[in-house]
Amino acid sequence: MAELKVLFAASEVAPLIKTGGLADVSGALPAALRAIGVDVRVLVPGYNRVMAHLAQHEVVATLDALSGFPSSRLLSATMTNGVPLLVLDSPGMYQREGGPYQNASGLDWADNAQRFGLLSKAAAVLGSSASPLNWHPGIVHCNDWQTGLTPAYLHFAQGAAPSVITIHNMAFQGIFPPAMLQELGLPPSCFDINGVEFHGSLSFLKAGLFYAGHITTVSPNYAKEIQQEELGFGLQGLLATRRDDLTGILNGIDTDEWDPAGDPYLARQYSRADMAGKAANKEFMQSRFGLNLEPHVPLLGVVSRFTEQKGLDVLLEIAPLLTMLPVQLAMLGTGDAQLQMIARDLSHRYPGRIGVHVGFSEELSHQIEAGADMFVMPSRFEPCGLNQFYSQRYGTPPIVHATGGLVDSVVDCTAATLRDGTASGFKFYGMTAGNLIAAIRRAVDLYRDRGKWETLRRNCMAKDFSWESSARAYREVYLKVLREM
Ligand code: ADP
Ligand code: GLC
Repeated sequence: MAELKVLFAASEVAPLIKTGGLADVSGALPAALRAIGVDVRVLVPGYNRVMAHLAQHEVVATLDALSGFPSSRLLSATMTNGVPLLVLDSPGMYQREGGPYQNASGLDWADNAQRFGLLSKAAAVLGSSASPLNWHPGIVHCNDWQTGLTPAYLHFAQGAAPSVITIHNMAFQGIFPPAMLQELGLPPSCFDINGVEFHGSLSFLKAGLFYAGHITTVSPNYAKEIQQEELGFGLQGLLATRRDDLTGILNGIDTDEWDPAGDPYLARQYSRADMAGKAANKEFMQSRFGLNLEPHVPLLGVVSRFTEQKGLDVLLEIAPLLTMLPVQLAMLGTGDAQLQMIARDLSHRYPGRIGVHVGFSEELSHQIEAGADMFVMPSRFEPCGLNQFYSQRYGTPPIVHATGGLVDSVVDCTAATLRDGTASGFKFYGMTAGNLIAAIRRAVDLYRDRGKWETLRRNCMAKDFSWESSARAYREVYLKVLREM
């Protein structure tokens, strides 16, 4: 069988550029696919930070025939994990001070439709007979709304490869005024309920979900949830009609990057066989966050976008009560200005008990996973979530709302699951302050029983969250799409 070639298009890829879990997935899944023999190349925009990371690169093509878009260059480079990278270099579009989606003041870039239209178009060109490269992918794999137009462009292209789109989060859809359609070079006929139209606007995500050969999402449970009104964000009907082309594949993690036995950010490394170093990480964290150096008070860790999705408003609401349990709370995150302010204010009101760091820090995120006793994720919805994997791997049992991928990746601690060795955290059903407090209390009670706590931590650390089996599931999807062409 000829080698399977896949173009993996994404708006972020770790470690080059990251705002959330999409970057972790684009950084690790392609490497896992290559390890099982799939020839994957990753396409990413040439933002400032990406360009700064490109030590060596080669200009492999100019893309000047993309109607309506500024001309751009395609650079080729190799990521440190060996994955070939294609960088879409269009300085006017991507080289700016600010984030991939927003300016430094946190406002969406006004020309995001053009910026991600260009990314989508470039991926489609590389997947069609118009490609300037002599490497021709058999599948174009898109991710989220930023590459959602790719399947639509491919639909109208000559000699086009089939496409797969992965939904990482239905809450972000890339909705723009209908007039954009012409500027983006799509035919008026596709502005239809059977096409890119969504409540009178142009939806990048809907375009992807409608035209892609197959849809995947990042956990089996979320694949079910998005077919229902509550979490379908208006696209539940389309997803339900396409349910035979919709597969939930649980994310894995980069087990080299997230390994307490080799993590360079830790105060002291440790492993399942030798847990001695974990206490040193707790002490280090307590001092970094200005918390009392109390080794026996349970320390709750949070690394999160500060948003409603992550349920941080509820956690902040109950934080004063938690300090009386007692527990300590160390939080790292950025996002909603109001939530950031409330968090900072709490850290001033409860010094020594609540510590907050507003910002994005790879280093601190690793240190929290290692130093905390428990990790809290009260997400209202969570397509997959990655921190619950990291925390289990670091022997820091997660306390999670039973939603999305958190259901698929955490086994609630009960007498029975502790006994059979599967327990790995604490789940609560129904996103309310009372239920969250009850779950934290359960965790704190178990923490007091050193033998049981030790068993729970060891269970967590024995779990296999590597990408291998998920990479095989993605390969199955690619092969199915090719068979059905
Ligand atoms: P989402 O993508 O919805 O934000 P995930 O749990 O899938 O949620 O992934 C979030 C990723 O971003 C994780 O790798 C997490 O450690 C990281 N992260 C989130 N906020 C921060 C932060 N403030 N500093 C460092 N890493 C962060
Ligand atoms: C999104 C989701 C998160 C998921 C990540 C990677 O950002 O919010 O749950 O883990 O994508 O797939």
